[in-house]
Amino acid sequence: MKQSVKLIAGNWKMNGLAASLAEVETLKSRLAEEPAACRVALCPPATLIHRLAQTVAHSAIEVGAQDCRAETSGAFTGSVSAAMARDAGATLVILGHSERRQEFRESDALVAAKAVAAVETGLSPIVCVGETLAQRQAGQAVDVVRTQVMQSLPLVLAATPFAVAYEPVWAIGTGLTPTLEQIEEVHRAVRAAMIERLGLPAGWMPILYGGSVKPDNAAEILAVPEVGGALVGGASLIAADFLGIIRRAS
Ligand code: PGA
Repeated sequence: MKQSVKLIAGNWKMNGLAASLAEVETLKSRLAEEPAACRVALCPPATLIHRLAQTVAHSAIEVGAQDCRAETSGAFTGSVSAAMARDAGATLVILGHSERRQEFRESDALVAAKAVAAVETGLSPIVCVGETLAQRQAGQAVDVVRTQVMQSLPLVLAATPFAVAYEPVWAIGTGLTPTLEQIEEVHRAVRAAMIERLGLPAGWMPILYGGSVKPDNAAEILAVPEVGGALVGGASLIAADFLGIIRRAS
């Protein structure tokens, strides 16, 4: 495994109003006092991308969207295109989060199409994969995740930066996490699938772990081989909690 700088990305989901930018100000000033040893990103709801990008201007904090449409423009009421997210100030985009795969029935093929649109627009995708509890209990976790990686990563990613996030569905927002051995097993399978799908060097892009990452479990999770960072939901909403995770990434 190649060691590269870790990425700690916060996913605010459908949380956050203008007042929440005070947390971002706090995060920015703490990181100005003591710079992070990792990359730091925040993915707010679409309504806040522009203001958050302005808030973190002249800092190392990166900004991401939580989704984008595969089409560039058109009659898609309520949707946000990759170009719109980029125009608002995002440089990253989360794609295929399990909440979108489940609630919006997003398929691997759709996620791959969105990743193509993102790359063409200059957004770096964070492509999410992960098994459900039923799949884990049936012993299918590795197979499910491997298939998602093979089918959700378009070949265009061979020539551009991106990340994969392994997020067991049953660990998201539940306080439950896999054992460190389980995390390592799936991350190794993701790595093998990335290399098979995209070759090298793209196959070495970071694999984030996501699902109930908190300040008190971040250090041990981030030390697992093949864990290249974290995708953080709930704990990214409060600057002190998010910082507690960032400080454990070396
Ligand atoms: P959580 O969410 O940290 O609140 O479990 C993670 C995610 O869904 O990205």
